[in-house]
Amino acid sequence: MLGGRWLWMAVLVLSLLAHGRASIFDEFDSGTEDVVPFHDREDLDQDMKDFLEWLTAKGMNFQSQVDVAITNGTGRGLLARRSFMPGETMLAVPPELLITPDMARRSEVGRAFREHGLDDCSGGEDSTYECMPLLAMHLTVLYYNESHDFHPWMKILPRKLTTPLFWSDKEREELQGSNLYNMLDGWTMNVEKLHRSTARVLGQHNVFPDLPKAIYSLKEFKWAYATIFARAFDVDGKSFGFSGRQRIMAPMADLFNHGDVKTSYTFNAASGHFELFTQQFFSRGEQIFMNYDSKNNAEFLLQYGFVIESNPHDYVGIAASIGNDQPFYRDKSLDCLRVLCATKEEMESGESRKILRGKQISDSNEICVYTTLNIIKNDLPHNVKTALILRRDEKRLLILNLSRYQRLLARLKERTKVHRVSDKSRSKRKDEDDEDDEDDEL
Ligand SMILES: *[C@@H]1O[C@H](CO)[C@@H](O)[C@H](O)[C@H]1NC(C)=O
Ligand SMILES: *[C@@H]1O[C@H](CO)[C@@H](O)[C@H](O)[C@H]1NC(C)=O
Ligand SMILES: *[C@@H]1O[C@H](CO)[C@@H](O)[C@H](O)[C@H]1NC(C)=O
Repeated sequence: MLGGRWLWMAVLVLSLLAHGRASIFDEFDSGTEDVVPFHDREDLDQDMKDFLEWLTAKGMNFQSQVDVAITNGTGRGLLARRSFMPGETMLAVPPELLITPDMARRSEVGRAFREHGLDDCSGGEDSTYECMPLLAMHLTVLYYNESHDFHPWMKILPRKLTTPLFWSDKEREELQGSNLYNMLDGWTMNVEKLHRSTARVLGQHNVFPDLPKAIYSLKEFKWAYATIFARAFDVDGKSFGFSGRQRIMAPMADLFNHGDVKTSYTFNAASGHFELFTQQFFSRGEQIFMNYDSKNNAEFLLQYGFVIESNPHDYVGIAASIGNDQPFYRDKSLDCLRVLCATKEEMESGESRKILRGKQISDSNEICVYTTLNIIKNDLPHNVKTALILRRDEKRLLILNLSRYQRLLARLKERTKVHRVSDKSRSKRKDEDDEDDEDDEL
């Protein structure tokens, strides 16, 4: 599902371009236009041509639906070959072209896992997580097994990934101060642990002597793990005999770039096809985006290796522990609640800064504080209280920094006489507004 790194601005520009092109296409939208054969396409490399030939040979009908293109800003992506109405299927991938945990279990890799007492994910609820090592090893073996039927697909999978799992230490240092910084350590250690307990064990027994030794390496395991994480789809596992969700890979379906659009996918149990739908209109010639879900930027980066500027779904997760045995806990919790109870108007008017000096801001705010306090005392679990305090502190930081930035900005404006609103302070303000919305729910 990763089509490459892109920025919001680039997408805006591209969709404008695409719209321009669409109108030209539409004049000829009679459905009689010839499809240029892959081998005559100058914009496709040989691997991509082989891949498309392979899909065609396998009977996958995509040529009247989508077209692979290299788009500026978003890298490789898919364009609409015709216009799509809401509710239409854009792509259907036949069952024999899917990579599923079920298929991994029945493969040589599944057999090797069982032979060496490794978990072949044959049960359990959370099979999306449980099956990752098996799927990763399976993908690696598919990648290196040149005689396997899936080879044309494997050859077009990107080998250089931009997710932070592959970042240098120096690059990772840039994340300092964000939640991802510590999460990444945990994530890396987890992947390494999974590698040690699976691929490395198989390597010690050299279970596939015909394949290069590299298939057991941490490097390949990480590649496979991150590739699955970025490109697989989680679907209902019932059709595969699993109770929970299942992680599957589907060729071509993973070439759509992400956009904030209305699309969905499902595994059609009756036909065995993996299907992608649109709930919105796409015109011919336009790039079709898939919605990879509403995620915050930390999640986008971890999973796909990109972030979206001014991501409307962005939020900051807060995790830490401050116990109610801390000194001044009660005082702090009052401040905390005052901020959390503050209305949008109170936050914007700067009234909220009084709170930092331990002052009340309004009667309605105090009522909210004490009502909430009562609920907190009786009902809220310890960790929830902790989270509230943390949010208070984060908010305080934001307020402090915001006022500092505002002062700086005012001074800069004074100096340069350029009266433009800085995007940075605008998006900071936006974050606060979002938090206020949460507060209103309290
Ligand atoms: C993509 O960018 C290149 C280089 O800037 C430019 O030559 C080309 O025309 C662009 N293509 C499209 C479709 O915008
Ligand atoms: C490689 O692919 C061939 C052809 O599909 C298959 O028979 C063989 O079992 C595969 N090797 C491994 C190690 O999976
Ligand atoms: C934000 O404010 C805190 C507290 O005053 C300060 O320590 C921190 O350096 C500030 N950060 C920025 C980026 O200004």
